[in-house]
Amino acid sequence: MLFLCKFLYRNLKGYRLLAVLAMLMTCAQVSSDLLATIPLKFIVSKISNPRSDPSCTFPFLDSLLTVFDTPVLDPSLRPIHRDQPLRQPPLASCPAISSGMNSVIHPRLTHHSVSGVIVFSLLMLAVFGLLNALLIYTELFLSTFIAQHLSARLREQLFDQLQRLSMDWHDGQKKGDLVQRVTVNIADIEKLVSDGLIDLLAGILTLAGVVVIMLFISSGYTLLSLAIAPLLFLIVFSYTGGIKAAAKKKAKAAGKIADVATEDLQALTVVKAFTLEKRKNLRFRNHVGTYREIGLHAGRLQAQFTPLVSFLGVLGTIIVLGIGGYVAAGKGVKFGLVAIGASTIDIGTLVLFLTYLKMLYQPMRDLSKLTTLASNATSGAERIQEVLDRAPEAAETSVPYEGPHKLKGDISFENVVFGYLKDQPVLKGITLHIPAGRRVALVGSSGSGKTTLAKLIPRFYEIQQGSLKIDDVEVGMYPLLVLRQNISLVLQDSVLFEGTVRENIEMGRSGATLEEIIEAAKKANIHETIMRLPDGYETIVREQGNNFSAGQRQRLAIARAILRDAPILLLDEPTANLDAEAEAAVMHALNTLVVGRTVLTISHRLSTLGRVDEILVMQHGQIVEQGTFKQLQRKKGVFASLLEEQNRYALDRAEDETGITSQRLCFSCLRKEDFVKATAPLTFGGIFRQVYAASHRKDQFA
Ligand SMILES: Nc1ncnc2c1ncn2[C@@H]1O[C@H](COP(=O)(O)OP(=O)(O)OP(=O)(O)O)[C@@H](O)[C@H]1O
Ligand SMILES: [Mg+2]
Repeated sequence: MLFLCKFLYRNLKGYRLLAVLAMLMTCAQVSSDLLATIPLKFIVSKISNPRSDPSCTFPFLDSLLTVFDTPVLDPSLRPIHRDQPLRQPPLASCPAISSGMNSVIHPRLTHHSVSGVIVFSLLMLAVFGLLNALLIYTELFLSTFIAQHLSARLREQLFDQLQRLSMDWHDGQKKGDLVQRVTVNIADIEKLVSDGLIDLLAGILTLAGVVVIMLFISSGYTLLSLAIAPLLFLIVFSYTGGIKAAAKKKAKAAGKIADVATEDLQALTVVKAFTLEKRKNLRFRNHVGTYREIGLHAGRLQAQFTPLVSFLGVLGTIIVLGIGGYVAAGKGVKFGLVAIGASTIDIGTLVLFLTYLKMLYQPMRDLSKLTTLASNATSGAERIQEVLDRAPEAAETSVPYEGPHKLKGDISFENVVFGYLKDQPVLKGITLHIPAGRRVALVGSSGSGKTTLAKLIPRFYEIQQGSLKIDDVEVGMYPLLVLRQNISLVLQDSVLFEGTVRENIEMGRSGATLEEIIEAAKKANIHETIMRLPDGYETIVREQGNNFSAGQRQRLAIARAILRDAPILLLDEPTANLDAEAEAAVMHALNTLVVGRTVLTISHRLSTLGRVDEILVMQHGQIVEQGTFKQLQRKKGVFASLLEEQNRYALDRAEDETGITSQRLCFSCLRKEDFVKATAPLTFGGIFRQVYAASHRKDQFA
């Protein structure tokens, strides 16, 4: 609870005064609510006993009530003759009140008319009702205003922080869980501020106010009326604990459902392809089942709690009615030390106590809901603070950067060691120099650390040992913005964002003109495809670019990279997901992109490396070979065996499989006419051998 208070205090900066104002409004509203019930007593008491006057309990009302003693309201006050003064209601002594013997010995005298008191009380009711309505409006508006601003601020802060946190941290998180924090957890805090806090404060004030006023009117009657309060408190607290624990478990189970649903829906293609629907349904059903059980338990507790409190309320009513009625009927009551004299309570007081009792039980009944709200908000605040407290990714250097904003692109690794987990290095001492403008290919078996090496250049992860420099300056010395603006990335599966095609390309360089965007698209070999779309460059891209083929997505990403015009280009298997035809188109686009840049291209398929100056071969986190295609082939080392293995595999497959497969493979390397000419007299195995040999023309690597 203390944590929640501190959290709210910290995050309400700028709105604290408004929060205090909302609290003051709540105090005023509760007071007016409590006072609004008193005129009820006035009317009932005055009607049942004309001597029982509001000024008996509240002497300061005497002069105010005199204004209402007019013949307009009470014709009996009209003088018999015009020139005579107005008649006064007859003087009478106030009834005795239970709190003092003095009222019995020296009763107060009063003289107000019944109609006057009724009209006065009705007016008071109207005034308090109006005031109440105004205060409720202000307090609700203020609390909603504060809650909305708080949740907007928290969401923006959290989202910003999530984008800044390191890939290291993100690797260990579930996306569904993070989305839950941004949406549900913040909504919980918002709900507490907009509904809960005001209700809680109002509840506490009502409890205190009711007890004070009841004690003021009749202390003995109050003590007896509240006889069941300890039992009520006991029940409230024991149930509240259970309901709170159940709410916590329920929130956790809901998070799990969100996780599983997000994961499965993201992988829907795989689910359908492997016909995993039943299995996934079963898993999902298990989580839903857990949630249902916890929800039922929480519901059961709530279902028991509400009628229990209601029944205790009825017991309280029986006590108030019983004692009140007995005393009002002219009999005295004595319970232990508490004694109430005969007729010291009238019908009006009885009605007032009944009304107050109702007001007393409502906050108690709400207490369990409020603690659930508070507990949800607390766990939400903890989960949000946990993210906010994380140090952002690679810390920005404190040394002011005064170097150029456009880098040349000379990259050097010196004995770089890095691992995702401590003591488990993935890169085990990489030493490597890529001069500016050089095109280097990185090959090696799966898991050897190629992608990891590439990710270190834009500082997605921090190296653990050694040094990584660009243009002879440690990467850590560049502001992240400068560093990353100088690097373009094209990955295996490029992501497009919701928005138009134009906006997606423009992300490469904010503020680029349409002409520049079209120019980039033309170079990326995608302009014509875009122009064929119904809205051209203004065509809407659906979530993650689902309305584009993988090849089109890659070419759009290449257009983005061309526009970015960064000196360093990292290509991580940009054609791995494409079929042969799309691959050819993308390779064509890439040929334009790589001109004049330092290029590090990673590829499994040695046939898709394109023209490179040098090949680096990685194995188990180390660079084991380095050289031109010819040199490496001659060396008969790792690269040569990789090449041989790929050749053998491809040939075996081509011989085994249908013609469609061989055709698919050779599209990447031959023009269609050549292909048709070459294939005419051959078997499928033979076709492939010829085509494959053509695809590995040595000049590609020379
Ligand atoms: N985010 C990560 N968290 C923990 N370990 C990782 C992470 N990414 C990769 N690894 C591990 O690091 C090693 C190298 O992975 P990396 O992705 O660099 O290999 P790769 O050479 O690019 O492989 P591939 O050719 O299959 O893409 C692997 O053993 C992998 O399990
Ligand atoms: Mg990889």
